[in-house]
Amino acid sequence: MNSDINQHLHEMKKPNLTHQFPTMTRKEELLLHLEEKYATEEQPIEAYLEGLLHAKAINYWDYIQVDALFSLQKTRTHFPDEMIFLMYHQVTELLLKLVTHELEQATAEGGVSGSVLFEKIKRAKRYTEVAQMSFDVMREGMDPAQYGKFRHTLTPASGFQSATFREIEFYCTDLWNLVMNRKKDELKGSEDHDELFKWIYWQMAGLDHKTGKKSLTLKQFEEKYMKTFRKLAHRYQKRNLWQQYLSLPQDEKTPELIALMKEFDQIFNVKWPLVHLRTAEHYLEHGKEVKAATGGSEWKKYLHPSYQRRMFFPELLSKEEFENWGKD
Ligand code: HEM
Repeated sequence: MNSDINQHLHEMKKPNLTHQFPTMTRKEELLLHLEEKYATEEQPIEAYLEGLLHAKAINYWDYIQVDALFSLQKTRTHFPDEMIFLMYHQVTELLLKLVTHELEQATAEGGVSGSVLFEKIKRAKRYTEVAQMSFDVMREGMDPAQYGKFRHTLTPASGFQSATFREIEFYCTDLWNLVMNRKKDELKGSEDHDELFKWIYWQMAGLDHKTGKKSLTLKQFEEKYMKTFRKLAHRYQKRNLWQQYLSLPQDEKTPELIALMKEFDQIFNVKWPLVHLRTAEHYLEHGKEVKAATGGSEWKKYLHPSYQRRMFFPELLSKEEFENWGKD
């Protein structure tokens, strides 16, 4: 290779060599970049090129891991509709994972610009909307009689134990907004994260409403995730979505960004919970009596969005929007 070119490569950070050296082909340019890459990593390029020679061509099923994906549907009964229940939960978990994937980037240490924040929230909103709009798969898509049978094999598991759902809350808002309502007056103004964390609202779903004791559902959940949650909650106090918004320069707090944040808040904290609640009613109130939830919560009260009034960005709401939050 031309030594001028080599010299040039070492001097420039982002060489545009074909432009600089018009006789150079794209293939030569790529080889040069590869040489540079492996030289930087002190790796022999020849071994990697030889590897390329023998590597199998990628195909769809290996890349997407279709076989692995289809090996994850392990139902507990022979009722065909249990498969719908199980798979739709898996689909939702994947959607929620996409949400956290965007929120992780939106809450990067050091902050992001207003336009990056906008794009990331727009994507998070889109995935949440897919979850909300597709919930009919649950609400209308299963035979209530079958549901009424296979659900017994799931006690004491509950969708309440979705850690991904809880993580999204930590990414989005200050811990204060996740404190249970009845403790809010007492804890007003507190910066003590450990104290606030103790009163996180969703523990209410894990108290057996007959005995007031922690249900097995909550105990198991805490044992598995509480340490991770505590770390996440602390880490994101200074850089959750709301804090990212606050730290933007004034001219980047655009009306479009504010409107988008409010829409995302509505979909995550009102629209999805409402369609989820209507689904729970459809199945658990089917027949003569209201059935107890597999997680054991006082579910009709707990699941209604106007009960906890969970909101990520209350400061963006008008007085009227704030007062009517969570109503049907
Ligand atoms: C027939 C379908 C469903 C029924 C009857 C149902 C019922 C319930 C009930 C009764 C609760 C309250 C906690 C308890 O005592 O168990 C709950 C919580 C929850 N469920 Fe479902 N659920 C259904 C589908 C789903 C799906 C598909 C997801 C998606 C992951 C999901 C996610 C959740 C979450 C995240 C919570 C906690 C909500 C919160 O803390 O605000 N559920 N569900």
